Amino acid sequence: MNLRRIVTLVVLAVVLIGLGVLVASTVNLMPEEASVQAQMVDRLFRLLMGIATVIFVAVEGALVYAVVRFRRRAGDDTDGPAVHGSTTLEAVWTAIPALIVIVIAFVSFRVLAASAVREAEPVVVEVVGRQFTWEFRYPEADVTSTELHLPVDRQVRFEITSDDVIHSLWIPEFRIKQDATPGRVAEMVITPTRLGRFPIRCAELCGAAHAAMTAEVVVESGEEFAAWLEGQRGAGLPVSPGDLGRRLFSQYGCNACHTLADAVAAGVVGPSLDGIGAAAGSFVPGLDARAYLEQSILDPEAFVVEGFPSGVMPPNFGDRLTGEELQALVDYLLSQ
Ligand code: CUA
Repeated sequence: MNLRRIVTLVVLAVVLIGLGVLVASTVNLMPEEASVQAQMVDRLFRLLMGIATVIFVAVEGALVYAVVRFRRRAGDDTDGPAVHGSTTLEAVWTAIPALIVIVIAFVSFRVLAASAVREAEPVVVEVVGRQFTWEFRYPEADVTSTELHLPVDRQVRFEITSDDVIHSLWIPEFRIKQDATPGRVAEMVITPTRLGRFPIRCAELCGAAHAAMTAEVVVESGEEFAAWLEGQRGAGLPVSPGDLGRRLFSQYGCNACHTLADAVAAGVVGPSLDGIGAAAGSFVPGLDARAYLEQSILDPEAFVVEGFPSGVMPPNFGDRLTGEELQALVDYLLSQ
């Protein structure tokens, strides 16, 4: 190799690596960074972006160069030179990717280990996934909520499980995702660093209303969190029937599939329940409104409204709702 070639290669390598560093440090494809773990994941992601940029530009650049430089010229019908492989080339293009993969594996393992480090006295939150709702329990305070509240700058330990099928707890701003599997409890730690409200999604196709299986996490100061917990503890005390029904309606995920203005629900998987109280008595001859609603909740296949698919609504509400809850829910729907 003559000197000019070596200089050209070195210049190209420097330009490529510079481009990789530039892309890694300026292009941001991720949502807001709202946890300690997110910062680690993003550093790893930026490294991968940089490496991918170098490889992409090098490979595509070589391809375009070869297409232009070695294209067939007009009137040239001769064969190209016969090439029989190059041991040096093969050694190099095996060694470089192997090295890259080893580096990425090493860095990934360190990020994985660092993001799972446990601190003393975390906030423990038990997470239960259900078709099609998330439930968050704070065992120390004996509070259950459909909205996740967390104090900022304090580690949280999630204990995640499911009541029916496999779901996946996904909070993009925290860069965490963990399957919720029936019969198993998966643990995951996270330390929120940013105040605000962030979306919670289900990342595992779990049925017809999978896309509607959302919730919100509210990250607040330690005092606000304590006050919220205290308020929720009070919420276990007697409430007005309407409030109770409305709460059950979202706690059991009815809002994911049905529209009901009073509960700020806009689901379209199942029929709208606006005005259901007045109409329910007229659907099936001989069945009054209360009986119709009860039966529709306990046995969703009993009367499937025309135009809506059967087999979509979970058939196990009879096991999940207590007798009082069922009555409260039916009372609430009758008042609509
Ligand atoms: Cu639960 Cu998708």
